[in-house]
Parts: sequence; C-alpha cells; structure tokens
Amino acid sequence: MNVIAVYEGADEPVVTEKPRPEPAAGEALVRTLRVGVDGTDHEVIAGEHGGAPEGEDHLVLGHEAVGVVEDPNDTPFAVGDVVVPTVRRPPNGANEYFARGEPDMAPAGEYHERGIVGAHGFMAEYFTSPAEFLVEIPPALADWGFLVEPVSIAAKAIEHAHASRSAFHWDPESALVLGNGSLGLLAVATLDEAFDRIYCLGRRERPDPTIDVIESLGATYVNSNETPVSSVPAAYEPMDFVVEATGHAPHAFETIEALAPNGVGALLGVPGDWAFEVDGGRLHREFVLHNKALVGSVNSGYEHFETAVDALSRFSASFLDDLVTGVYGIDEFEAAFADDDTTIKTAVEFGSYEER
Ligand code: NAP
Ligand code: BGC
Ligand code: ZN
Repeated sequence: MNVIAVYEGADEPVVTEKPRPEPAAGEALVRTLRVGVDGTDHEVIAGEHGGAPEGEDHLVLGHEAVGVVEDPNDTPFAVGDVVVPTVRRPPNGANEYFARGEPDMAPAGEYHERGIVGAHGFMAEYFTSPAEFLVEIPPALADWGFLVEPVSIAAKAIEHAHASRSAFHWDPESALVLGNGSLGLLAVATLDEAFDRIYCLGRRERPDPTIDVIESLGATYVNSNETPVSSVPAAYEPMDFVVEATGHAPHAFETIEALAPNGVGALLGVPGDWAFEVDGGRLHREFVLHNKALVGSVNSGYEHFETAVDALSRFSASFLDDLVTGVYGIDEFEAAFADDDTTIKTAVEFGSYEER
C-alpha cells in the first residue's frame, strides 16, 4: 500500500510502499479516508519536533485521520463504521496514564504520538489500531472527520481553562484567539457558542481568506501589526479567556497583559528555544493582584474527541468549505503540504466512504 513518509535528513515527504498491516488481537483494520495536515506536520518535516520510531530511518506522517473499519477483527466495531483514531499510544505496554484514560497527561517517555514521535502515523491506505483508541463518528461526518483531532485540542484547552477557574463564579464573555492558522480558526469556531464576543489575532493584511473566515464566524479580526497582544485591552477590551495558537513565544507572556482580572490563558503553540527579555516583576504582579492563570495544554484524550465530534457536527457547512482549502489525492499529495497565504486547512484523501 502507499504511505506518505518523511525520511531522516530529508525536508520533504515522499510516497513510498509498505505492506498492508495485519491487525493484532484487539486491533481493527481501518481503511483510511482522509488525513489532515497542520503546523505540527510542518514542524516534524522540518526536523523541529518529533521523530521516527526507534531504529527506523523514516516516519509515516499523519495524526489527524478518519477512516472506515475494514476488518473489525473481533473488536466491538462493525465493517463500515466510520472512526477517528486518537494520537497517543503507550510505548511499552500500558502505563498509569493510559490505564486512567489520560494519555494526554503522560510525560515525555510515557507515550508515542502516531505520525509525530516514535510511532508511524495514519498517512497510509490502511492502518491498524487497538479498538480503545478509535472513536466512532456519524457517517454523515466522514468527509470532515479529519478535523475531529484538531478540534479535540481546542476542546481540551477549554476544559482545562474552565477547570482552573472552577473555584469561584467565573462567567466569561470575551475570548481572544492568537493565531489564524487552522488550529486558531477551529478554536474560534469551537468557542463560538460559549462567548458573547470573540476576537482572533493574526499578522495578515486584508484581503486575506483567514480574515474572511474569522468575520464569517461573527468574530473580530485583530491585526497584530496595528494592535500587539498587550495593547488589546486598550484597543478592544480585556479578555476573560485567551487561547494562544501561534507558537510565537512572546505571546505567552503578552497573554498575561491581555487578560481581564480573573481571566485565564491557554497556551497551545510549540515554539523552539528563544531567549528574550520580559518584565518578570510586572507579569508576576499581574498574575497575583488580578487572580490570573495560564495553563499549557497538549494533545487530547478520548472524551475530548467525543466533545469535538459534537462541536464538529454543529459547525456550518459554509465554515467547513471555507476552512478546508484543499483535499488532494495521493498523486498530488505535495499540494496538501503547501504553506502559503491561500492555504488554510488541507487533507490528503486515500479513499472515499462510498467505495465500500
Ligand atoms: P499554523 O497553521 O502554522 O498556524 C500558526 C498561525 O499563527 C499562522 O496563521 C501564523 O500566521 C500565526 N502566527 C505566527 N506567528 C505570529 C505572530 N507573531 N503574530 C500573529 N500571528 C502569528 O499552525 P497550527 O496547526 O494552526 O498550530 C498552531 C500552533 O499550535 C503551532 O505551534 C503548533 O505546533 C501548535 N499545536 C499544538 C497542539 C497542542 O496539542 N498543544 C496541537 C496542534 C498544534 P501566518 O500564517 O500569517 O504566518
Ligand atoms: C497534535 C497533538 C500532539 C501535539 C504535540 C499536535 O499537532 O495534534 O496530538 O500532542 O501536536 O506533538
Ligand atoms: Zn496536530
């Protein structure tokens, strides 16, 4: 079967052949429909994040997948069920984090991430997975199922932010998403119903397709060239909730200044090392005197995937059409990895649901 992989030392993915996998006991065989591409894939391809399975010279890419069960292999699934795989797997049998159903809280060394670090991903015509890591979704969502994983990232961040504010009456109204990449736009859509006023910050000038998406969601675009994050309270309003989805490291600290008293920021970006100056005393004081919080959040668990399926089913068709700027067959897979201002969210299509 065809797979899309990146080889060590290479800076571009290639199509290569591998045998179709055989499901082990407890695993189902899944025929892949679509696999999304995000900023992490670009970081993995550039060698900035993740790595190949031990002893191997390549990594099969892809962690945002949707597929159809081809062979349930005595798992609870039926042939034709539409499923989305979670990303993390235990490296050496189960550990306490997986046993508790909280693999997203496991520290480094206690997990592999399929398509990112230590385990091959889903950019293959078929993949196998233990049934416990497959989330069934309605067939009507088959085309968009590759968005469940990134939406689950936003869902986890929102849950953790709320949890950090659960000791008092917190009634947030304003939210700011930093970043108009695919994660940022999906975060805006996910927050939509829960906040009265939503803002999304980017560094693009008009006309730009991401600004159109932001405004079609009823959110306000903030141009960071005119309004840096720390000026947002004066230019717009202090924010009860900030989601950072740029990976631009200064944003983590500027978020503290963008927050309203009692507000919380969720940091999702994954920057490289970057030393810069901050006024530590001022930020420390802001935290304490205004009861502010920052939470970091990575990956997501089974329940966040379930929350994401609900959220995805409420997204409008026009939002999804505008967000997904390209779905490419394996013969034109390079287009799915384009990184330009007209590309928002892309996926590689390995097969169609109707083929069954
Ligand atoms: P992406 O498509 O590359 O989006 C990043 C966006 O941030 C781009 O739109 C970029 O704008 C914008 N940006 C970067 N620097 C900026 C700045 N200084 N000011 C304003 N906007 C800026 O990546 P993504 O897939 O959406 O992911 C976003 C980040 O989250 C990445 O760091 C990724 O690694 C991370 N991530 C984390 C998790 C997690 O579990 N925590 C999950 C998925 C992704 P331009 O396009 O104009 O350059
Ligand atoms: C993936 C997460 C993963 C994170 C860090 C993200 O793009 O969606 O599942 O935990 O990267 O590797
Ligand atoms: Zn991702």
